[in-house]
Amino acid sequence: MYLYGARGHAKVIIDILRTLGDKVDALFDDDVSIDELLSIPVRHEWNGEMPLIVSIGNNITRKQIVDRLDCDFGMAIHPSAIISPSATISKGSVVMQGAIIQSSVHIGEHCIINTGATVDHECVIEDFAHISPHATLCGNVHVSEGAWIGADAVVTPGVKIGKWSIIGAGSVVVRDIPDGVVAYGNPCRIMRIEKTIEDYQERHTKIKKIAVYGAGGLGREVAGGILRINKASTEQWEVVGFYDDNLQAGTVVSHYGVVKGGMNELNAIDEPLAVAIAVGNAKTRKLIRGRITNPNIYFPNLIAPSFKVLDSETFSIGQGNIIQDSCSATCDVKIGDFNVFNGANVMGHDVIIGDYNVFMPSVHLSGAVEVGNCNMLGVDSVVLQKIKIGDNITLGAGSVLMTKPKDGFTYIGVPAKKFSFE
Ligand SMILES: CC(C)(COP(=O)(O)OP(=O)(O)OC[C@H]1O[C@@H](n2cnc3c(N)ncnc32)[C@H](O)[C@@H]1OP(=O)(O)O)[C@@H](O)C(=O)NCCC(=O)NCCS
Repeated sequence: MYLYGARGHAKVIIDILRTLGDKVDALFDDDVSIDELLSIPVRHEWNGEMPLIVSIGNNITRKQIVDRLDCDFGMAIHPSAIISPSATISKGSVVMQGAIIQSSVHIGEHCIINTGATVDHECVIEDFAHISPHATLCGNVHVSEGAWIGADAVVTPGVKIGKWSIIGAGSVVVRDIPDGVVAYGNPCRIMRIEKTIEDYQERHTKIKKIAVYGAGGLGREVAGGILRINKASTEQWEVVGFYDDNLQAGTVVSHYGVVKGGMNELNAIDEPLAVAIAVGNAKTRKLIRGRITNPNIYFPNLIAPSFKVLDSETFSIGQGNIIQDSCSATCDVKIGDFNVFNGANVMGHDVIIGDYNVFMPSVHLSGAVEVGNCNMLGVDSVVLQKIKIGDNITLGAGSVLMTKPKDGFTYIGVPAKKFSFE
């Protein structure tokens, strides 16, 4: 079995599966800072491993994750739960220790029937609902999709709880509760309209369109990276295609899409469109950005899910940056606009980066390094601590920069020295 979600709720499910003698091979979690849970490895990219249970207590988040996974879902039912033979429980659901599920109950998909909860005869629990510890649902209660019944709450016979509503802990619900509200107390009263349904729907109906400018190798890498961002986060992009002035419209770019035109066509788009500038030359990137004059175009940061930031509170980033796999930044790192981090780039404390720089794979910037604009740092190059790079320098592959370079020149070697092409 695999679990998606590696926090407290997952721990309880792991216990249940271990009691049943089932092995949990791995967990998945979008949070790249979690590496293991109860000695089980946590991965950050799901590649179709199944059967799987989404082990996230929040009903909306659980649904969001389920919606993006196309797989066989498992179940976890603790042997101490008492379940009527006439009850039905659907895939993805979990039943915790000591829960009681009575005759003719139907439990939908991806529900949580938590520790010691009682679900009495003929109750219907729709998909994604959560019945918290020791809640008591009397006979014929109907809990609609995504509703959350708080710990120790009591719902009297025949009452219906609306979709995605929240019933506070210890409440006594004696009347039907409409969709999308927070209600609590004894007797239970509606306290506020909960915005979560709208938020949820907005997130899911608003898949944003993105195009990639540049249909070469970096363009394909960026398109592939976008598809992976879709898998790993709630942010959802539709790659509408490529723009490239050096290729004919209609040129097929791997399985990612086709070239839709060049700069003129891009500047004629009449609806909001995100664009990633996937051109590896620092000065050309700046040139291209300058030529995009269409106000409908905006430039999101595209950040690989594997990017690790030690302290996100002190981290800042502008727009239009592309951060590929396995990059990391420690604390007080500031990144400007339109930089490309080609993978495995390391940024130490207090690193400040301007705009339009290109960092080839495995560039290491030591603490307090400053990088201006339009520089190109080659594969495996290193910049020692406190070095200030201005603008338009090229640092050769494998070089180690130990002294401040002059703007516009190329530096090569260990230690890196000014290089003349004559
Ligand atoms: C109902 C609930 C969602 C409200 O959360 P909230 O909107 O953040 O509410 P707040 O904590 O801001 O409290 C607002 C007011 O409501 C009261 N209140 C909150 N929950 C209450 C409850 N369950 N019963 C009675 N009063 C409650 C608070 O005392 C506070 O009153 P005040 O304004 O006079 O100080 C939450 O309190 C709750 O009961 N959650 C269920 C927790 C649970 O069962 N977890 C199980 C996990 S497995």
